Amino acid sequence: MAEKHTLLNALSPGVTAAKEIALRYGNKPDALLEILHDLQHEVGHVPDAALPVLAKQLNLSRAEVHGVVTFYHDFRRKPAGRHVIKVCRAEACQSMGANALVAAIEKSLKIKLGQTTSDGAITVEAVYCLGNCALSPAIMVDEKLVGRVDARKFKTIAAELSA
Ligand code: FES
Repeated sequence: MAEKHTLLNALSPGVTAAKEIALRYGNKPDALLEILHDLQHEVGHVPDAALPVLAKQLNLSRAEVHGVVTFYHDFRRKPAGRHVIKVCRAEACQSMGANALVAAIEKSLKIKLGQTTSDGAITVEAVYCLGNCALSPAIMVDEKLVGRVDARKFKTIAAELSA
């Protein structure tokens, strides 16, 4: 059994990170959200293998941990591409054409929101307000805010990221 855990740790660095992060929060079940955010920040996503480990450490059921991870769209279940583009879908951006922008993005990259291009270059995710409403529709390219984005501007950005 111990051997199995060792093998699991070796295969998934997310498991080791999950254990360490949970420990930092004193293995408190109330800290699950913070732990998941830290895990995503450190590993880049929330690996499936980390969920039963967190459940055990926090004394929660697997269903409880799984429920939280799937309820919040912030949590990425798979590793992201080399670049992450967040597209605002909140009200101000919607009123300025965010839905048309999303359709153009999905057509241009041939993926849906939440997916990664087949070359691993770009992951596109939905987000709800980037605090850039005055320049809507807004997106965030890695850590950089970009405003007044239309299909043409997006294509230029995507081409630069894929180069
Ligand atoms: S609603 Fe899109 S940035 Fe605020």
